[in-house]
Amino acid sequence: MSGGMLNHQSSMRNLEGCDEPAPATSPWTSYSPQSYLATFYSGQVEPDEQIALHHQIEFMGRLGPWNNAVEVGCGPTLQRAIAAAPYVSNIDLIDVNSEALDCILRWRDLKSNAHDWSRFSDFLVGREPYTAEFKTAAEREQLTRTKIRSAVATDIRLGELASNRYDFLLSAYCLECCYTDVATWRLGVKNLFSMIRPGGALFLVSLIGCQSCRIADDWYPCCALSTSDVKTALLQNGCAPNSIRTEEHESSAYAPFGWSRFVTASAIVSI
Ligand SMILES: C[S@@+](CC[C@H](N)C(=O)[O-])C[C@H]1O[C@@H](n2cnc3c(N)ncnc32)[C@H](O)[C@@H]1O
Repeated sequence: MSGGMLNHQSSMRNLEGCDEPAPATSPWTSYSPQSYLATFYSGQVEPDEQIALHHQIEFMGRLGPWNNAVEVGCGPTLQRAIAAAPYVSNIDLIDVNSEALDCILRWRDLKSNAHDWSRFSDFLVGREPYTAEFKTAAEREQLTRTKIRSAVATDIRLGELASNRYDFLLSAYCLECCYTDVATWRLGVKNLFSMIRPGGALFLVSLIGCQSCRIADDWYPCCALSTSDVKTALLQNGCAPNSIRTEEHESSAYAPFGWSRFVTASAIVSI
């Protein structure tokens, strides 16, 4: 495991109103976004990404447009923002790893050495069911550049999140990486929900049953979730029961990286 686990000495007030020790500095502050991109996002659009992007645009496009959106734990990736772009007024990107956010801004600002997301953009425009605009990958990417409003380094466990600000929240493979047990993960979910305004919506992708995941040679802790944990958390945080859609999928190609199942989930927060 890379990334020093430095302990904060202070305490924080959790969402139940109790003081508890502040979490250790996230090991994710020091993973290599470049290795991550090279491992997971440099070839074809893998089947898990195809499934997740399809669910995302189907949900966002069918019920949108949305005003302010946020992606939590984007890492150095842009495919979910590129998918969201036609359906949102703007999108803020949040991650604990500032080097990952530099990758985002390099791409947005057309700097040299930015990662190439064109395979994902091609995939998206080829399957777009809801908008006839932005027909080419280049048009979709240009649109996305205009919609990215900010990229802010934040540790989402620390509770300094914007309240009720967002109409749409996206988060993929992040929250389960912030915690190691389901009880604390539930507090994290509650924290995420505090960012969404009533009547807003969310789309999540989560690893299922994964206790640690590998990037390059390093293993990172993860909270082993079930699909039922995800569904229960959506219900407990005020999602309209008939709006909740969870789908568990197999992705055995990733077994060497510590996981082989994931869930896509979408829901609307009741007013
Ligand atoms: C497995 S990566 C997922 C990245 C991207 N969403 C994707 O779909 O490939 C997990 C991401 O969550 C971020 N992360 C982990 N703990 C975090 C925390 N406490 N606060 C904010 N982001 C965090 C990591 O920095 C990393 O970019």
